[in-house]
Amino acid sequence: MQPIYLDNNATTRADPAVVAAMLPFFSEQFGNASSAHAFGNEVAGAVRQARKSVQALLGAAFDHEIVFTSGGTESDNTAILSSLDTQDGRDEIVTTAVEHPAILALVDHLATSRGIKTHFVGVDSHGRLDVEAYQRALGPRTALASVMWANNETGTLFPVERLAEMAHDAGAQFHTDAVQAVGKIAVDLKTTAIDMLSLSAHKLHGPKGIGALYVRKGTKFSPQIRGGPQERRRRGGTENVPAIVGLGKAAELVATHMDDELGRVRGLRDRLEQGILQQIGHCGVVGDVQSRLPNTSNIAFDHLEGEAIIHHMNRVGIAASLGSACASGSMEPSHVLLAMNVPITALRGAIRFSLSRDNTLADIDRVLQQLPDIFVKLRASSPSWLTRAQTPLANSSQSSELAL
Ligand SMILES: Cc1ncc(COP(=O)(O)O)c(C=O)c1O
Repeated sequence: MQPIYLDNNATTRADPAVVAAMLPFFSEQFGNASSAHAFGNEVAGAVRQARKSVQALLGAAFDHEIVFTSGGTESDNTAILSSLDTQDGRDEIVTTAVEHPAILALVDHLATSRGIKTHFVGVDSHGRLDVEAYQRALGPRTALASVMWANNETGTLFPVERLAEMAHDAGAQFHTDAVQAVGKIAVDLKTTAIDMLSLSAHKLHGPKGIGALYVRKGTKFSPQIRGGPQERRRRGGTENVPAIVGLGKAAELVATHMDDELGRVRGLRDRLEQGILQQIGHCGVVGDVQSRLPNTSNIAFDHLEGEAIIHHMNRVGIAASLGSACASGSMEPSHVLLAMNVPITALRGAIRFSLSRDNTLADIDRVLQQLPDIFVKLRASSPSWLTRAQTPLANSSQSSELAL
């Protein structure tokens, strides 16, 4: 039986049409986009087309607002470092406690290497940002506020349009890590105050190792990879043409699949979530169910170890994830769930199911058929489950959200 892949926030399968669009650019159309001859011109045209496709997906006003990078991590790093370079007299960052390591690892490094102060704004038990604390953190020394559009672990959406305006009122630039949001929800940057936005192709059925940083026209910007004049001198290095073409194609396709994502994929996610809550019980949804990506469901199971759940699911061909891909592998509980104050009994039992347009109703029904047995076995061999105290989660058979 085919394995079922429910880990699309970690990465997605490149669409076959994306792969087909990329292939000629490894061989027949191998020119350097900067070369002033036919080989180069042809390729430069394909890069231009890809830039327009990403522009259209983001609703950006100009195609030159799109700078191709090596992915989400580079885009995030560039946005922060650029702001610190260009915002004279401003040396502080405002971000959140639940960002991806692509932000958190850099600001930690900047604290030790350059003494840069970062304010980490917290979230409530539903994962919602403390907007008042965000307002208080902004000040005359803030160079950049960087807040993710959608959380990779819980799918919770942050009100970035409003947060961008607040950052501008404080004279700061605003960046959003939209790596998980782009392709899953509609984005129209023309109508927002967002200065910079990061995206990554491999989260939207494109290839790995390619992404983009949107830089609004007029935004002060300092390149972080210096070299040749590529990308209007904002990112040196010969363009990764096959990958750029793949990102362009993925952007085109995702735009046409947006209704599917918001309708069919959401329906599948809800069917899976409701099925688990009803059939397995003693678990709860982590995140803001009112404002969440349509493809993501993070469910915390009381008195069980996430690693064991993942392992047992894997044995029957179901792939999901323990929090984020970057957090898994370490035994530390997820920083996102810690920031949300998820009860200690459920902290290690959270599983992220993330769907995509590749998933079918048959996938979800097979998962729902197989999970109950797995949980019966896991609970029978879990000392923590067998000796559990009567906590709110343990008492409820169908908690729809974590009782905190
Ligand atoms: C929210 C978020 N930001 C940034 C990244 C990093 O993107 P990339 O893998 O393209 O470097 C990821 C990938 O997991 C992510 O989920």
